[in-house]
Amino acid sequence: MTTMTNALITGWGMYVPSRIMTNQDIATLVDTSDEWIVSRTGIRERRIAADDETTATLATHASRDALAVASVDANEVDLIILGTCSPDYYMPATAALVARDLGATNAAAFDLQAACSGFVYAMATANGFIRSGMYRNVLVIGVEVLSRFLDWTDRNTCVLFGDGAGAVLMQARDEPGGMTGFQLYTDGTGWEGIIFPAGGSACPTSPQTIAEGGHYVHMAGKDVYRYATRQLAESALAAVRDAGLTMDDIDQFVFHQANLRIIESVGKQLGMPMEKVFVNVEKYGNTSAASVPMALVEAVAAGRIAVGDRILMVAFGAGFTAAAAVVEWTADPERAFLAPGEQTRLGQPQRQLEEVSA
Ligand code: UT7
Repeated sequence: MTTMTNALITGWGMYVPSRIMTNQDIATLVDTSDEWIVSRTGIRERRIAADDETTATLATHASRDALAVASVDANEVDLIILGTCSPDYYMPATAALVARDLGATNAAAFDLQAACSGFVYAMATANGFIRSGMYRNVLVIGVEVLSRFLDWTDRNTCVLFGDGAGAVLMQARDEPGGMTGFQLYTDGTGWEGIIFPAGGSACPTSPQTIAEGGHYVHMAGKDVYRYATRQLAESALAAVRDAGLTMDDIDQFVFHQANLRIIESVGKQLGMPMEKVFVNVEKYGNTSAASVPMALVEAVAAGRIAVGDRILMVAFGAGFTAAAAVVEWTADPERAFLAPGEQTRLGQPQRQLEEVSA
């Protein structure tokens, strides 16, 4: 009998900066209100990176926890795939900085740009590398410090986003589980929907692009909203079909946390009860590529995910891109609390985040 290699999630971690910015705080910067933001998006607060924090430092914290939960040393990691659209630098890849900071001296490392869909794209990529036998231990990260790329005078965008990081370790195993179905999707006709207009080869940085704020996120909110509500449902169904399942087989829905109204609308279209839909957008806003892994980690910590559960992760973002994956959970959720050296933040909820990460 031939055994099939599967890519199982064996470690998970997240990190958010300690600084909280509430809707009231934002209302001192632009003409908005807590009432408007909560009713249109469900967001109440978001985290903002400290001056000495970057995309790489957030990613490194989340990755250390993921490795600790899996009891895997950094030098055993074969590959790091980091999804982000707010890298430390255009070049080199932020994944290289994370490899350096982790001491992952045997790992190949690259960034993957699929905007908010980046983490699910990266998981599917890792799944391919593992199932084909090329790599055994792949660290998959979704991370953003979008606060550095926002125009804090533009109320259409600055109220929506936040900073954070999530990571999982995917490992080759000859037992069932892991990613059993997926869909990756791109519709490039939507390329202008969410965009950094300047700074690339199409529109290089100049004094004029800076004066015009071309280096900030620009978004056609209504177009994105329409696209998201339709495509999230389609991608979700496609991934569930690919796994040979139906919606009734899904135990927990972990959606991209962009907007509570979008999540509720998709939930309704798919006929899924809201108690199966994990939501934490109120605490973190839209953390783009970090939102799915952060929601996954918090769902596990909240006891919402058990061994054998089938989890449906779905994201959408600039491009337009969308990505969905069905993952059969195989790890003991308690591992996050048993990790050696009290290293994981999840095992230490009573302590300050920055104390633990020091
Ligand atoms: O990861 C993907 C990221 N993007 C998304 O998920 C965004 C998807 N889109 C959305 O979530 C929604 O379109 C928004 C939350 C961005 C906007 O909600 P909306 O209900 O579509 O509002 P709108 O854009 O139609 O704006 C309604 C009004 C406008 O005023 P007028 O023209 O009607 O006078 C806006 O100027 O609300 C105004 N507005 C605001 N008012 C207070 C826009 N932003 C704000 C604000 N505070 N922050």
